[in-house]
Amino acid sequence: MKPFLAFTLLSLMFVPHANAQSIPKYDWAKDDVERAKLLRVTTPTDDFTKAEPFEANPGGATSTDKIDGRERLSQPSANLPVEKRMDFTLGETLFDKFWVAAPSSTKASDGLGPLFNARACQSCHIRNGRGRLPESDAEQPVGLTIKLIDAARQMGDPTYGNQLQLFASGNVKPEAKIAISYRAETIELDDGEQITLHHPEYIISDLSHGPIAEQSEISPRIAPPLIGMGLIDQIAANDILAQADPDDKNQDGISGKAKLKSNGLGRFGHRADAATLVEQVASAFFVDMGLSNPWHQQDWGDCTSAQTICREAPGGTQPNLGAHEIPQNVLDLTAFYTGNLAVPKRPATEDPSILKGKQAFYEAGCVSCHTPKYVTKRSALDDSNSFQLIWPYSDFLLHDMGDMLADRTQKGDLGNSEWRTPPLWGIGHTKAVADQERYLHDGRARSLKEAILFHGGEAETAKQNFMALNRTTRDNLIQFLKSL
Ligand code: HEC
Ligand code: HEC
Repeated sequence: MKPFLAFTLLSLMFVPHANAQSIPKYDWAKDDVERAKLLRVTTPTDDFTKAEPFEANPGGATSTDKIDGRERLSQPSANLPVEKRMDFTLGETLFDKFWVAAPSSTKASDGLGPLFNARACQSCHIRNGRGRLPESDAEQPVGLTIKLIDAARQMGDPTYGNQLQLFASGNVKPEAKIAISYRAETIELDDGEQITLHHPEYIISDLSHGPIAEQSEISPRIAPPLIGMGLIDQIAANDILAQADPDDKNQDGISGKAKLKSNGLGRFGHRADAATLVEQVASAFFVDMGLSNPWHQQDWGDCTSAQTICREAPGGTQPNLGAHEIPQNVLDLTAFYTGNLAVPKRPATEDPSILKGKQAFYEAGCVSCHTPKYVTKRSALDDSNSFQLIWPYSDFLLHDMGDMLADRTQKGDLGNSEWRTPPLWGIGHTKAVADQERYLHDGRARSLKEAILFHGGEAETAKQNFMALNRTTRDNLIQFLKSL
């Protein structure tokens, strides 16, 4: 079946969202048709003797020169016009703001909870980089959230909803406590190099309303870095769709599924659950902080009907400011800020060992999923992110990554093992920004080598290719990743 037809059929099968009336429908016919002409520009290179033109600017004209210091991932797009800087600054204030529970004396900041995982966006996305994981059991995870998914019924847990909230306001109790323990497994490669994998186990205790349903899948997710989000928002859906091969027709062992939704192609979040940046930000306000907004209208956030005290807690909606705790303009400004965080430039693209590492990355088959480049759509509404040659190294599709990375049900059965290929740009800045190196959807990997060795399923062959490299080439590949 032609991908486009398959996709139209699939989109008809989509299960509507609870608040479907507030979600704008995606007009697929209007999706960019200029694409074919750009194919030549975006075909992966096979010349590794020198850097490619513009490769040093992974975010196109948005890329920032600021490549050191702890705020290096918090820079505005370099091409953001002066008159838009004020919106960026306002959005930054909202992103950094600590929300409080209603009713409060600071009316315009209330509405947090009753259940929440954090008080501010910045608590999880540290300096716009990744979330941090606790260093000891005394600390509850903040930048790592536990989603609950009843896969068969396409909903959350009947009692605890879509996510376990570890904090609560007023007389509402937090839903649970989480401890994470890691089982270490040391792998020895042919040349004697040893790499330790850390397999996580999640211990959920102090549940406020009895057990989690046996069939609910426990899906831990670390907060991802937020650079280049506006550019990802502007990749034409058809460019992502063109890479999907759900039945593996070309028999390369790699399928790649698109997440099709009524409002567009899912591309944000570790499972591509959100199709647009605004949708993702609206869900963050609601599920992570319990703040209602035009997309999610109940003041009680993620409390289910089983959680009566939580449903009855006071809300923070102020009729003079709008019908929700977060009005549309606050949502838009926060999304604007998130959409204009610049990707740092890459000064060392011509370095011979980085070029060797790049070659190894391509030849090992990493680019089958980590697609190097795109040209974003032309967009009159989003000028800075419009028509840019960008280098995210992702196909934004879902891949079966094998049992090691699979979610598990509460009962212990294997659950969903599909993850969206994450963009790799800026990955070399991880440690400098958050003081911690944590990779993959749940932050289990403490080094890039560990992250690669956790690849399985569709990525098994690429991983084997990586393991078979000699030590120098393997280190060059890591150096290439760190230069992104
Ligand atoms: C409690 C922690 C937490 C808070 C608070 C939080 N986030 Fe997130 N954020 C996450 C996690 C976890 C994900 C991945 C979600 C998934 O896999 O579905 C995420 C994903 C995202 C993404 C998509 C990133 C990508 O690579 O696709 C964006 C954008 C985002 N958050 C923005 C925000 C904004 C803006 C706020 C504040 C309104 C916010 N987040 C608050 C934890 C948090
Ligand atoms: C079949 C598709 C596929 C192939 C091939 C593949 N990857 Fe990945 N990669 C993924 C997915 C999906 C994830 C996210 C998995 C998760 O979060 O659990 C990922 C995650 C990563 C990460 C961690 C990113 C982060 O932000 O945490 C790195 C680094 C990485 N891949 C490098 C590589 C390298 C190097 C190769 C080649 C040896 C490779 N990948 C091959 C799909 C692939």
